[in-house]
Amino acid sequence: MAAPPAQAATAAPLRVGVLGCSSFALRAMVPALLQTPGLQLAAIASRDLAKAESAAQSLGGRAEGSYEALVEAADVDLLYVPLPTGLHERWVMAALQAGKHLLVEKSLAVDLASAQRMLDLAHRHDLLVAENFLFRRHSQLAWVRRTIAEGTIGRPVLFRACFSIPALADDNFRYAAALGGGALLDVGAYMVKSVSEFVGPRAELQAAVIESDARRGVDVRGSATWIGSDGLVAQAAWAFDTHYQCTWEFLGTTGRLVCERALTPPPGFEPPVRLEIGTDRRELRLAADNHYVSQWLAIAASARDSGLRAAARAECLEQARGLQAVADAARRVFVNS
Ligand SMILES: NC(=O)c1ccc[n+]([C@@H]2O[C@H](COP(=O)([O-])OP(=O)(O)OC[C@H]3O[C@@H](n4cnc5c(N)ncnc54)[C@H](OP(=O)(O)O)[C@@H]3O)[C@@H](O)[C@H]2O)c1
Repeated sequence: MAAPPAQAATAAPLRVGVLGCSSFALRAMVPALLQTPGLQLAAIASRDLAKAESAAQSLGGRAEGSYEALVEAADVDLLYVPLPTGLHERWVMAALQAGKHLLVEKSLAVDLASAQRMLDLAHRHDLLVAENFLFRRHSQLAWVRRTIAEGTIGRPVLFRACFSIPALADDNFRYAAALGGGALLDVGAYMVKSVSEFVGPRAELQAAVIESDARRGVDVRGSATWIGSDGLVAQAAWAFDTHYQCTWEFLGTTGRLVCERALTPPPGFEPPVRLEIGTDRRELRLAADNHYVSQWLAIAASARDSGLRAAARAECLEQARGLQAVADAARRVFVNS
């Protein structure tokens, strides 16, 4: 096999290809890429050449009318894959065989076995596979960690998180089982990642419930409870077809901290936070941040460093294990049947 093009790390810009004209990619990730030093948009691919041409015209880069052409393109070092999860393994494996680094949208894989196949191949080629959890790059996360570490709410005893979104169009891929749809792999993945961030990747799962919609054919709601090694309990819930909620809540021995836009603060938005200490109750606005650009910077650095590539792959594996544990342990309930 030919040496991966991105292996010869130089100061030359990392050339990025975008696999599919996903609305999120065109609206958020590609505009941020264009602002990130050290990265260059090389090409955008779609199953529909006209779509790729229209995206390339407004954002830049070359248009490709097939995913195969982009995966094989010699002028691309890193592929950003904003495809439905059920399509990831096919294109990630092909891209790894072609020597490309990868930033893949969450969730990386439909199950742990699929994640392991991708990550094993990436390890054999020493290539990057990273999952796009943007909240980890927002300064809100560092602020929350610091506030808790400083003892502002005392000793944290309970972490509660919820990510729920209103109903989507019936033809949204998130309702298609064959495309890796379902709430656990979509909004639930953020909950598993949040628990890993605050309670630790080895948080022990105690119980889980997954509700599936028989008409839609996918899971639409779930909840789970974990215990961390220091006794911190985590409860998380995730849902489609409900009121929007995107919260982290920390209950401590002397206070309480609530983040109302924990996972999705857009660039320029100052995330609201509520801090209660005794009878004192404060509403704060944290600093705005562009975590999309920070994510691209982190991805560029990881693509160029073997140790960081290994760390990113390990994070993906940990996340896939966390999701699989919930899927395996969950009591299954059917709604709308
Ligand atoms: N990290 C985040 O904060 C975040 C936020 C939103 C979404 N996402 C992720 O981004 C990805 C895309 O989400 P989105 O909301 O942007 O969805 P979307 O607009 O529907 O984009 C999905 C893209 O996948 C391609 N595709 C290939 N085969 C497909 C098929 N059989 N059915 C549907 N699409 C197919 C399409 O591109 P072509 O037609 O051009 O080939 C389509 O534009 C998902 O993995 C999602 O989880 C992440």
